Amino acid sequence: MITVPVDLGNRGYDVLVGDGASNELAGMLRERAPRARRAAFICDELVAGQPWFPALDPGMPFTVHAIVPGERSKSLSTVESLARALAHNELARDDVVVGVGGGVVTDLAGFVAATYHRGVAYCPVATTLLAQVDAAVGGKTGVNLPEGKNLVGAFWQPVGVLCDTALLETLPDREWACGRGEMAKYAFLGVPSLAGLPLEEQVARSVACKAAFVGADEREAGRRVLLNYGHTLAHALEAEAARRGRDVRHGEAVAVGLVYAALVARRLGRIDDARVAFHRDVVERFGLRATLPGGPGAWDHGELLAYMGRDKKAAHDLALVLDGPEGLSLVHGIDRSVAARALEELEAADRREGCA
Ligand SMILES: NC(=O)c1ccc[n+]([C@@H]2O[C@H](COP(=O)([O-])OP(=O)(O)OC[C@H]3O[C@@H](n4cnc5c(N)ncnc54)[C@H](O)[C@@H]3O)[C@@H](O)[C@H]2O)c1
Repeated sequence: MITVPVDLGNRGYDVLVGDGASNELAGMLRERAPRARRAAFICDELVAGQPWFPALDPGMPFTVHAIVPGERSKSLSTVESLARALAHNELARDDVVVGVGGGVVTDLAGFVAATYHRGVAYCPVATTLLAQVDAAVGGKTGVNLPEGKNLVGAFWQPVGVLCDTALLETLPDREWACGRGEMAKYAFLGVPSLAGLPLEEQVARSVACKAAFVGADEREAGRRVLLNYGHTLAHALEAEAARRGRDVRHGEAVAVGLVYAALVARRLGRIDDARVAFHRDVVERFGLRATLPGGPGAWDHGELLAYMGRDKKAAHDLALVLDGPEGLSLVHGIDRSVAARALEELEAADRREGCA
């Protein structure tokens, strides 16, 4: 087991990574939520049906609240129904919410914990690769609006995070790929190649990178924004996909978002062709495709640009995290025509590669 501390003073906590980490749940709650008498598990229906789920033990009486799987459940209406269920079950101020699942569940359950009784203890048990390497760590919680991803949320640090790599044995291939999409971004944030390392090590090194950013800038006033590398186009694709009833997953969208950001950076003269090729290479090495889901012509560029303009990083302009001679930085005031031409370039590359 590897312990990665998230250094946030009296809000600091440990992330336990490894085979069997979820067996530490009761001990972690005893230590970090000592007044809790009851727990509420929030998960999705698929997670609740996994063979390992019944073995999860918070060491106190608990209720299970299973939501419909998928990004559509990350909504204010689900928050309301969950909060009402907790109230109905008399979950009290000193009790604890345990979010068991992928990033949808950990974002949602964290937001419920942040707001129910104006904040109760929260402990995520991350069960997708994506949640283990990223979503469950760092205290960003929230839900989507039809207008965009994660537009309502709160910073709410957990009492601890459990990343049990044994639980990933039941993860479908597509979810592994999604997790690798988030892992790929760490290659641009100072993490040397993770290739060939044991899974536990890959997860722990990714978590340590995130923890360093979170420890230095908990509320994303500065450097933490760099963790959003590749996410501006990704969030636009996800929001537009939700509106059109299309199936685009977060990690897949991040992979293409990384290459898109490189194309924008090259157009602005910040990086050269070799660095763009490096972006494609990293994405491909993680087994992902740097192409727009659905292929060329599948997306309304005007809509995507509108979503990108509403991104949380934007301050009444278009802002993206971009690579450059000194590494990543948040660049404001990007000309819409530059962003639009980079989208066309991304599609042209798709056409060249013959994806349909
Ligand atoms: N808060 C943050 O810092 C942060 C960072 C990155 C991503 N996110 C968010 O994370 C979300 C995406 O997370 P995700 O891809 O993990 O989504 P998810 O929670 O929908 O999980 C993906 C699927 O995997 C299934 N699943 C989960 N664990 C399983 C297991 N062990 N075995 C079998 N099936 C399992 C789920 O039922 C679901 O169908 C997005 O909403 C994104 O915005 C948040």
